[in-house]
Amino acid sequence: MITRKNNIFHITTQKLSYIIGIRADKYLENLYFGQKINVQNDYLALAEKTAFPYGYSVVINEKDKDKNITLDNICLEYSFHGTGDYRNLPLLLKMHDNTYSSRFEYDSFKIYEGIYKDSDKTHLPHARDNKNDKAETLEITLKDDFYHLELRLIYTVFSACDVITRRCVLVNHDKETVTIEKMMSLQLDIPKKDYILSTFDGLWARERHQNDKELISGSYMIESLNGTSSNRHNPFILLSTKGTTQEVGECIGVNLVYSGNHKEIVEVSEYGKLRILSGINDTCFSYPVKKEEVFYTPEAVLTFSCDGKNGVSKNMHDFVLNHVIPPQFAYKERPILINNWEATYFNFNQSKIMGLVKEAKHLGMELFVLDDGWFGERNDDTSSLGDWTVNEKKLGCSLRTLVEKVNKQGIEFGIWLEPEMVSENSKLYREHSDWAIAIPGRKTYLGRNQMVLDYTNQKVRDYIVGIIKELLHSANISYVKWDMNRPISDAFSNAGSATPGEFYHKYVLGLYEVMEKLTKEFPEVLFEGCSSGGNRFDLGMLYYMPQIWTSDDTDAQERIQIQSGTSYGYPLSGMGAHVSASPNHQTLRNTSLDTRFQVACFGNLGYELDITKLTTVEKKIIKGQIEFYKQYRALFQYGEFKRVLSDNEHIIWQVTSKDKSKAISLLYRPYAKPNDSADILYAKGLKEDAMYRVHAREVAISIKEFGNLINQISPISIKEEGILQSAVNKVYTLKSEKEEYIVSGSLLMYAGIKLKQRFIGIGHNEDTRVMGDFSSRLYVIEEVKSK
Ligand code: GLA
Repeated sequence: MITRKNNIFHITTQKLSYIIGIRADKYLENLYFGQKINVQNDYLALAEKTAFPYGYSVVINEKDKDKNITLDNICLEYSFHGTGDYRNLPLLLKMHDNTYSSRFEYDSFKIYEGIYKDSDKTHLPHARDNKNDKAETLEITLKDDFYHLELRLIYTVFSACDVITRRCVLVNHDKETVTIEKMMSLQLDIPKKDYILSTFDGLWARERHQNDKELISGSYMIESLNGTSSNRHNPFILLSTKGTTQEVGECIGVNLVYSGNHKEIVEVSEYGKLRILSGINDTCFSYPVKKEEVFYTPEAVLTFSCDGKNGVSKNMHDFVLNHVIPPQFAYKERPILINNWEATYFNFNQSKIMGLVKEAKHLGMELFVLDDGWFGERNDDTSSLGDWTVNEKKLGCSLRTLVEKVNKQGIEFGIWLEPEMVSENSKLYREHSDWAIAIPGRKTYLGRNQMVLDYTNQKVRDYIVGIIKELLHSANISYVKWDMNRPISDAFSNAGSATPGEFYHKYVLGLYEVMEKLTKEFPEVLFEGCSSGGNRFDLGMLYYMPQIWTSDDTDAQERIQIQSGTSYGYPLSGMGAHVSASPNHQTLRNTSLDTRFQVACFGNLGYELDITKLTTVEKKIIKGQIEFYKQYRALFQYGEFKRVLSDNEHIIWQVTSKDKSKAISLLYRPYAKPNDSADILYAKGLKEDAMYRVHAREVAISIKEFGNLINQISPISIKEEGILQSAVNKVYTLKSEKEEYIVSGSLLMYAGIKLKQRFIGIGHNEDTRVMGDFSSRLYVIEEVKSK
């Protein structure tokens, strides 16, 4: 709800309050942001008070009653260069007279139902309205009459998920051009507390690892400069007060609906204020706005929870599912796929593909994804990007025929594309070398042997849209993996469609235009975003593509960290999670097939290994995994996710159904430890008084795990790594312990279940939980209804 009383705007959601005051000096003061409060006429209690000016400061409005105001010490809604606020600023405008000072004062406001009314005009992805959680918008207009500029601060409220989005709009009413050097979407000023900042950082194959730092005096900044939101620093950030746990404590979450260069700054000022800024990165950004032109920032997302980090994650997950992803995919169960990339890389033909498809069907999979290498003359990564015509010689038939063959097996067909790229060795580049991003006359640096297409150029965009439409219409394709495998460098448009200062933003706008057109034309096609794994995992992509390939790294131990980090800001159904071969192709680490599966369950399950080469035992295991996943798919993809525990020895994740009658927990142990205490299974968010049956999912224990210890129980001698051990291993595994309890929700949540003893180096029987390195169990928790 948004109310306005005298000079106060009070925005409330289910659990939070955001209060803005129009000050006598006409600047906007943030009076409060946090847990919902009841305010009658006592807003004065929230205002900053000053009687005398601070030493060595700029004082505004000397003549009226606020004469001693130093803006540097006020929590402001949006602040301006040249007004004496010396913190990091959200806005820098270069005026036609080459000055940088701006003074935007309150002018007027509008409150209306629904999202920002000009959302479509922004040509940017944005939060969608939803009849189950109707939005409401506040527009506050500020004016700088000296330069004839208008600045609108837009607040949209999504009450059910405790989210307020923010963005800014600049309108130039002057006859001269103004240049935006910086314009952030969100500024949030609040009094300083002992905040910890969590950011989600990484590189290729190790995306979104959580890093925490204590905020003391000064600024902390994260950013992306490579043209995408990047794997370096995700735009999602989390602030929590010291001592906050996953379940208890104050947390603030901020994200940006944007897929390009972004920047987030958190500053603790010497006057004891905390400032958060989020928006387009101002490096290499210089955007002219001519007479009567309008500039829109992307939308930033702000949430607050007193229920710890899981509370913020829940708000963000609900927001993404109900207000960001295409509504036709919200809560729609995602198919279990088989992707041929790590099974074949570029080396495949029709018979290999059909072998994979037939085995996939047999194992219960639902969608086959033909990855890189099906087009042009692409048999390695040195050629053909841009030539999106099927390589019939390699496939032995047309794409339509291949898709028909796959469909005939009862399997859907998906295809890999990398539409933002061009190989130097391609027909497209030979015909249109000026379509690649390059500075004329200068040797272009390549990344993975390829160049990026100039999406600021309308001709390029139209060509790509045309060719992909044709391709998707040519066969029954129900899924597209949209990849992007190199960063942008030497940003320059040969067509002159963007100046270097406009380039990065216009590239993103161009990309959104292409995706808008394609997803509109093919609303039922499931698009999965990808950028060398999870290099572009953001809300802008999720607006078009309801899921994103989380990381090229499918090693279970690595995935625990990657998926955990990703889960802070994004729902499980947004994450692609595959079971791949062991040793893993990224780390060479060996993990069991069940651990790989049990970690991948917390996302959209897929397989990415050569399933035509599985042993009898592996086939049986995978078949069982898929049956299990299908049974609980809705819970894994759409249940409420909680990070229950994370210490050096255990990780516990949990998904719970809305009515709390069902949950599944993952207990993961990175390392085995001899002579150790029992594991305790804790749950969260269940019904205290309900009774639950808890049982461990059976996993297969390979006899290889016992090495030559197996001879202690085997009637015949089995040589370690010998032919007999290998032969037995292909057809036989030991069964894991059976473990089952009927307990109350309160017991599970507060006492926890002391699980059976692990193998601790002394002996083994059916009551021992064999848990070596990188081991895991799933525990199914189901309410037992009394008759
Ligand atoms: C990227 C993707 C992979 C795969 C390859 C194909 O690295 O992240 O999943 O599609 O490209 O070249």
